[in-house]
Amino acid sequence: MAKKLTIDGKEITARDDTTIIQAAHEAGIVIPRYCYHPKLSIAGNCRMCLVELEGRPKLEISCNTPVADNMVVHTNSPAVVEGRRAVLEFLLINHPLDCPICDQAGECGLQDYYMQYGLYHSRFQEEKVHGRKVVDFGPDVVFDSERCILCTRCVRFCKEISKTNELGLFERGDQAQIATFPGKQLDNPYAGNTVDICPVGALTSKDFRFKIRVWFLQETKSVCPGCARGCNIDIHHHNGQVYRLKPRQNDAVNETWICDAGRFSYKAINDNRVFIRTYGKTAGYSRPAGRRLWNRPLRPYVRMGEQRWVSWWLPRAPMKTIIFSPGWRLTSSWPPMSSCILVCLEMKTTS
Ligand code: SF4
Ligand code: SF4
Ligand code: FES
Repeated sequence: MAKKLTIDGKEITARDDTTIIQAAHEAGIVIPRYCYHPKLSIAGNCRMCLVELEGRPKLEISCNTPVADNMVVHTNSPAVVEGRRAVLEFLLINHPLDCPICDQAGECGLQDYYMQYGLYHSRFQEEKVHGRKVVDFGPDVVFDSERCILCTRCVRFCKEISKTNELGLFERGDQAQIATFPGKQLDNPYAGNTVDICPVGALTSKDFRFKIRVWFLQETKSVCPGCARGCNIDIHHHNGQVYRLKPRQNDAVNETWICDAGRFSYKAINDNRVFIRTYGKTAGYSRPAGRRLWNRPLRPYVRMGEQRWVSWWLPRAPMKTIIFSPGWRLTSSWPPMSSCILVCLEMKTTS
């Protein structure tokens, strides 16, 4: 039976098996969360999804509170905002100031809510608890225990989705930490998804670590060509180079997951690309444009990423060819080539 409730003044009809966070999501209201994930069981341990329910004395977590008839929910009242600020302050007590070197920066749940709730000045004066910074979890996953907020998404993924049970939550209190069980590695065909669902930078991909800041990446929707299932993906790329593939939610095909074989299939797109334009054919063999290159506009070659080739060629070409080459356009919007020419002229005048 459907339930009728009000969330932030909006009257909503929700299925009776839903929780407040799900009902709000369906009504277009986003409630902050860390441990909640729509495809995993409910843990209710981060307390970030607090909401105020009229008639109840305390704030409640919306991810584990079922909807009820005539419920009145406030997701952004002053009490809720204060509650979330307190939760964030607690989560950040032992969190390192790693953002400048953290791969998650730019898409991190802690950063986003930290900015949103204005926790700019820490009151914490004591020494933080230090943990292991680089823990090799498996062939592609590295763990940083200081960054982990113990939401247990990764543990639940290995238990409920891959059903491989490599990860567990060990110890208690401020010594609690995620680790692999003795003798086990996070090595299953879906392990890369743990990096995707980690809301902070605790789990990072060896393949993607330190390659590029995420705000440089553009996203293009696509479908994985790895097999006939056709999982929906986002291609993250920059300057014509693909850096990673991420699953795109499609509940009819892949839900929110992709396998590691598909995840790393992007490498074939980057490897062995032909960057130098070829012309002419001799018995079916394409020759790279060689000595006659200076008679052709160079700009496309540089655009295609062959700057190293051009910087090799420039010092060897006759001066008049460099200056009067047809199609040559030296503009301030082309700093790499301007630098090449300055280096080249300098070499020629000093040699
Ligand atoms: S996990 Fe988030 S808040 Fe923590 S260091 Fe990384 S980017 Fe910064
Ligand atoms: S490693 Fe990430 S996903 Fe796992 S418990 Fe820590 S914060 Fe959560
Ligand atoms: S999202 Fe509800 S307690 Fe974590």
